[in-house]
Amino acid sequence: MLDQASGLRRMQPKNQIKVIAVSGGKGGVGKTNVSLNTSIALAQLGKRVLVLDADLGLANVDVMLGLRVQRNLSHVMSGECELDDIIIEGPAGIKIIPATSGTQSMVDLTPSEHAGLIRAFSDMQTQFDVLIVDTAAGISDMVLSFARAAQDVMLVVCDEPTSITDCYALMKLLSRDHEVFKFKVVANMVRSPKEGQVLFSKLAKVSDRFLDVALDLVGVIPYDENIRKAVRKQQAIVEAFPDSPASRAFKALAQKVIKWPIPNQASGHLEFFIEQLIDN
Ligand SMILES: Nc1ncnc2c1ncn2[C@@H]1O[C@H](COP(=O)(O)OP(=O)(O)OP(=O)(O)O)[C@@H](O)[C@H]1O
Ligand SMILES: [Mg+2]
Repeated sequence: MLDQASGLRRMQPKNQIKVIAVSGGKGGVGKTNVSLNTSIALAQLGKRVLVLDADLGLANVDVMLGLRVQRNLSHVMSGECELDDIIIEGPAGIKIIPATSGTQSMVDLTPSEHAGLIRAFSDMQTQFDVLIVDTAAGISDMVLSFARAAQDVMLVVCDEPTSITDCYALMKLLSRDHEVFKFKVVANMVRSPKEGQVLFSKLAKVSDRFLDVALDLVGVIPYDENIRKAVRKQQAIVEAFPDSPASRAFKALAQKVIKWPIPNQASGHLEFFIEQLIDN
């Protein structure tokens, strides 16, 4: 597996990276769990994975994994340190960029922070195959700019009316104002595969009717008590309970993700993502 992965890597020009934003509108639908477990499952397949924790809420990636964070992206932007200095290592060798502190938004950076961020990402020594951005809940400018800048937007939904309406609102804004028309949907906390399909159909029905967007159901993650158990142990379920139903679903999702194409032009590069992120 690893040999195959490194063979694939050699074929990719330097610095090409798949950037996926994980969003969903509503809080607590499982975005951080989907981001982390998919990242770890990708790392287990031999991919070099970077997670950008863009969620300023309470359930941060580092908290979920019991990692200690001393400095974050704001220290990089202010020039106090390099990106490589703040990156922390998580399970299966995934690397994590901790969230910025406070309420600062990527869209109102000062020119020097702006330049600092571009420089930091261009100078980063480590190469990655995939960047997963765990966004916050809601439809803030921050969330919209991450989704707009990414190559793929993965929307996590669960079978609650507010999850569906919030997800719809997010797709509406992204398609209307940010030219994002394709969405990959992950149905989370479902009681059966059928329920996942039904949930997806509900979302597809309203979006087909009122929006010009294309939806693709890429993952159906069962409701699994072991997720909560793993969270309490500050571990990811794919590591703590690898054979649990949700773990198997995350591994299946990772198998799909590695097949998604990476644009081979400028848009397949990390710097492009950062430029898009801050260039409104
Ligand atoms: N498939 C699942 N089965 C059981 N519990 C789950 C599942 N997915 C997520 N959870 C639980 O739901 C809660 C919220 O998950 P998570 O923190 O990943 O959501 P989030 O969308 O990132 O939330 P926030 O909007 O606060 O960032 C957690 O307690 C987690 O354990
Ligand atoms: Mg979260």
